[in-house]
Amino acid sequence: MPGAIYAEGLVKTFGDVRALDGVDLDVPEGTVLGLLGPNGAGKTTAVRCLTTLLRPDSGKAVVAGIDVLKHPNEVRRSIGLSGQFAAVDEYLTGRENLHMVGQLYQMRAKQAKVRAVELLEQFNLTDAADRTAKTYSGGMRRRLDLAAALVVSPPVMFMDEPTTGLDPRNRQQLWEVIKQLVSGGTTLLLTTQYLEEADHLAHNICVVDHGRVIARGTSDQLKARTGGERVEVVVQDREHIATATEVLRGFGKGETTVEEHTRRLTVPVTGGAKLLAEVIRELDARGIEIDDIGLRRPTLDDVFLSLTGHLAEQKDEGNGVAADPDTKGHENTKEASR
Ligand SMILES: Nc1ncnc2c1ncn2[C@@H]1O[C@H](COP(=O)(O)OP(=O)(O)OP(=O)(O)O)[C@@H](O)[C@H]1O
Ligand SMILES: [Mg+2]
Repeated sequence: MPGAIYAEGLVKTFGDVRALDGVDLDVPEGTVLGLLGPNGAGKTTAVRCLTTLLRPDSGKAVVAGIDVLKHPNEVRRSIGLSGQFAAVDEYLTGRENLHMVGQLYQMRAKQAKVRAVELLEQFNLTDAADRTAKTYSGGMRRRLDLAAALVVSPPVMFMDEPTTGLDPRNRQQLWEVIKQLVSGGTTLLLTTQYLEEADHLAHNICVVDHGRVIARGTSDQLKARTGGERVEVVVQDREHIATATEVLRGFGKGETTVEEHTRRLTVPVTGGAKLLAEVIRELDARGIEIDDIGLRRPTLDDVFLSLTGHLAEQKDEGNGVAADPDTKGHENTKEASR
């Protein structure tokens, strides 16, 4: 039986751009799917197709058991959506925005008021509740938009980059709200550029690039697939980055990732502690001072990098149209740096 969110062969083109190029998804009821991918991968397009805002060129989508293309109005009644860009009414206060959503869903006035108070509290907006939304900061708007998506508790929720622009405390709080929702049986599709967020919240992860799903599984499965350990070195001096990269290349089993601003170099290895000792000796022999060095398991960032050739959160100006399809989804051999 298909899950609460189901898609088969979704295709959506914009002129020459194949924003979705045959996407299949199946999200079991009561679970969270994390949709990851670089900028322009097709995440928002997928969310818009599944939430009736955009009609796919071909393919099938079923949400909460309802055919999205045949019965969009019914689907709309069964879902909640928080889009990538907050959609709040600037001229209403936070509280009024929430009342209005309640009315749209035909809640009784009293019930809508009680719900608004709860949500304002949950999203740290009580103090700002009676100010118009146009006086809100970006993070406050974002929170109000998320609160609006939760006025009624629909069985299926979509959140497109829900925590982008939130400070760490508000992000943590939203994670708690999401966990509560899901423990109550809600099914959630969430897109995010914060891999830590997907690691934390998603039961399953789909990595998309150029409109296609290039990997799927649990966070642990994806990490296991990326395989092996990493040696991570922080050099003391920026000038030593090039030499250290050369040293690591000699020991590594894949590309070395260089983060210039933190002077951190990472390379996949096999050989554990013994190899680590050798790396330290070699760096020492070359006169490279180090601030930190260690072995660690792959993170979701490593998975993302090896699959897409991009680091997450890295701005990709292109839209993927010109990318060489042959390199898609394969280990990248060039040194990645930012
Ligand atoms: N309305 C549109 N008209 C033309 N092209 C579009 C439109 N919407 C999306 N695209 C293109 O489709 C591709 C996928 O865009 P989409 O917004 O789905 O990416 P995304 O994965 O959500 O990216 P981001 O991480 O930047 O939010 C991009 O190449 C984008 O330029
Ligand atoms: Mg998007």
